[in-house]
Amino acid sequence: MLTAINQFHKRMDLNTIRKETRGCTDKIFLNSAGSSLVSDAVFDQVINILTEEAQIGGYALAYANQQGVDEFYIETAKLLNCAPENISFQNSATDAYAKAISSIEFKAGDVILTTDDDYISNQISFLSLKKRFGIEIIRAGNLANGDLDLVAFEELVKQHQPKLVALTHIPTSSGLVQAAAEVGAICRKYNCWYLVDACQSVGQLVVDVKEIGCDFLAATGRKFLRGPRGTGFLFVADRALEAGLAPLVIDMIGGDWSSVDHYTLQPTAKRFEFWESSLAGRLGLKEAVKYANQLGMANIEKYNTDLMSHFRNQLKTVKGLNLQDWGSKVSNILTFTMDHHTTEEIAAHLRTHDVYFSIAFAGSAMIDFPKKNIESAIRLSPHYFNTAEELEKVVAILDF
Ligand SMILES: Cc1ncc(COP(=O)(O)O)c(C=O)c1O
Repeated sequence: MLTAINQFHKRMDLNTIRKETRGCTDKIFLNSAGSSLVSDAVFDQVINILTEEAQIGGYALAYANQQGVDEFYIETAKLLNCAPENISFQNSATDAYAKAISSIEFKAGDVILTTDDDYISNQISFLSLKKRFGIEIIRAGNLANGDLDLVAFEELVKQHQPKLVALTHIPTSSGLVQAAAEVGAICRKYNCWYLVDACQSVGQLVVDVKEIGCDFLAATGRKFLRGPRGTGFLFVADRALEAGLAPLVIDMIGGDWSSVDHYTLQPTAKRFEFWESSLAGRLGLKEAVKYANQLGMANIEKYNTDLMSHFRNQLKTVKGLNLQDWGSKVSNILTFTMDHHTTEEIAAHLRTHDVYFSIAFAGSAMIDFPKKNIESAIRLSPHYFNTAEELEKVVAILDF
């Protein structure tokens, strides 16, 4: 296994990647699922743009950097395998998600079909829609191994004809990778709107919107894409644009005020944007996406898969350590508990060794954690700038 990882070290040029990641050498940074380390390209871009902004002001700055803004759409389209016209810039994944949801005209009795593993804020949004419009929320169950039960899922689609199917590709508090493309095929067969939360998968593995077959896909900049905070994007498929879907609240970027009592919608996904945004953020995100594209998402995914499989296998040898990620396909999010140490004790121990991580609490995994009979877990989320050697150190640290 180590040999395979080293091979990909060469292919991924880990030395250069680590040299270009200023935050990765003085600590073991394993929190890319929270907010990752930006590359120097992103850092320089943000600093340069802010410096220019201080000299000429935000509007002249935007005028002078139009080409960079255009490149954001081109690079992001390349990342997701779609056209630039299907991409809109957003301030976060939640911002993107909220706009997508608001474009669907829910009425009483409409069904949202989702899963037990969908993200906390999405679940709260569904409950809010239920309160306001009287919609029904149905959650598809899992198989015994933790995978989404696709047979039951199709049955639920057939039976309830949901107005919207909502799936979180990789949940925030477990390593599970949900079957986004298989769910997409069901949505296409039964013709329901399909919204994917790809916040944790974009930048970590290949995310191809054509293969997934979604109508909307929401993502954030700061996690596995390694972009600045306060950035994200929303993919909107041609199907949704042609059907006239648009967010409930539209501003002068999303529409043209064509006469006193009328407006026309932007033909592209830009109808989901708001006019105001941070140019430093936008262009920083563009650099982050470009960096991922240059490394190649297939290379990143392969490296990550090998790294994590090695890490998981090693952690299995630590006495009393329980890996908590269920499912046949798992990702760069790794959660665990220990028999003889509380989450707080493990956290304190990791901190003394300069390991950066986060803690997942049951409040964010209201359905998943009770099934696992846990209230919290340590979440480690390595990325491609991490090495097998670093993770071996963490394994030794956890043997305490
Ligand atoms: C699965 C998932 N979806 C959505 C979000 C929200 O992302 P943002 O904070 O960019 O809105 C998160 C953040 O942790 C997440 O893990």
